[in-house]
Amino acid sequence: MQLCGNHIISVEQFNRDFITELFDIAELMRPYANRQKINKVLDGAILGNMFFEPSTRTRVSFGCAFNLLGGFVRETVGFGGTSIAKGESLYDTAKVMSGYSDVIVMRHPEVGSVKEFATASRVPVINGGDGPNEHPSQALLDLFTIQNELTQQQLTLDELKITMVGDLKHGRTVHSLSKLLSHYQNIDFCFVAPEALQLPTSILDQIANAGHRISQTEKLDQGLSHGQVVYQTRIQEERFATREEADKYRGAFRINQHTYAQFCQPTSVIMHPLPRDSRSDANELDNDLNENPHLAIFRQSDNGVLVRMALFAKILGVEKTFQNYELPVTWKNNRQN
Ligand code: CP
Repeated sequence: MQLCGNHIISVEQFNRDFITELFDIAELMRPYANRQKINKVLDGAILGNMFFEPSTRTRVSFGCAFNLLGGFVRETVGFGGTSIAKGESLYDTAKVMSGYSDVIVMRHPEVGSVKEFATASRVPVINGGDGPNEHPSQALLDLFTIQNELTQQQLTLDELKITMVGDLKHGRTVHSLSKLLSHYQNIDFCFVAPEALQLPTSILDQIANAGHRISQTEKLDQGLSHGQVVYQTRIQEERFATREEADKYRGAFRINQHTYAQFCQPTSVIMHPLPRDSRSDANELDNDLNENPHLAIFRQSDNGVLVRMALFAKILGVEKTFQNYELPVTWKNNRQN
């Protein structure tokens, strides 16, 4: 699959060979992400990092990934800091911003907005999340994490039993990851959600048509006992018409060390795209799991840097040459990896 110069809008662009190659490149990025070496292959290149919804991980890890390859980052955060607040269209914004950048990452609250922006852009655009629709780079880092965790248990992505829990209707990370997993063989999906927040039918049909098994339940204990991987999600309160509407579901599916010990398999991997909602009325993933060795949430967020570095290397055509641009680290490395 050719990615150089292309936009990344949906996981539907990816195939299994591409994913394998990308993950091999991501592994080669570890020395730079761990500050054992510096890399300058993107020296002089500029990332336009445009986030019109709140973000910690996606915005900062895309920025760090670009910096770690030697590039510069220009941040745009919120509509209020741009001339969109004065009525400028996405088309005009794309024409202007792509004149200043070599690649753009964009997050926007509306479904299809990043695709619309990309159509007018003169440089590749990566979808950093378009409303409740898709979050392709998150799905890639989730899959990379699942593969790494399974490998440690002598398991493979094929035949995976995965449970996804929470707001599956609005959770774009669940949408993208479900579609991405469809490229593998005999996946056994269990979706735990209230009926009103279940996975959209179009995605259920897509994974069923690819030959995978699907079960749906409102019973968390059933889901926990099913999954080799349990992927918890937050109630996406920002997608509901009112806070009261979100309140109906908040805190409905809580995972903590007690429920893990009672219902999960002894080596079940617990994942969450983050942020987890740690307020007492939600607390879908309790802090008492923090020392559980199977809690993979911070390995996920670390892996985001590796996978996003690999994406930049592919999109900017340096995936075969980047190792020629490394330098020694000149400061004392105090990181604990
Ligand atoms: N997982 C994720 O998209 O996190 P942020 O919203 O913090 O970017």
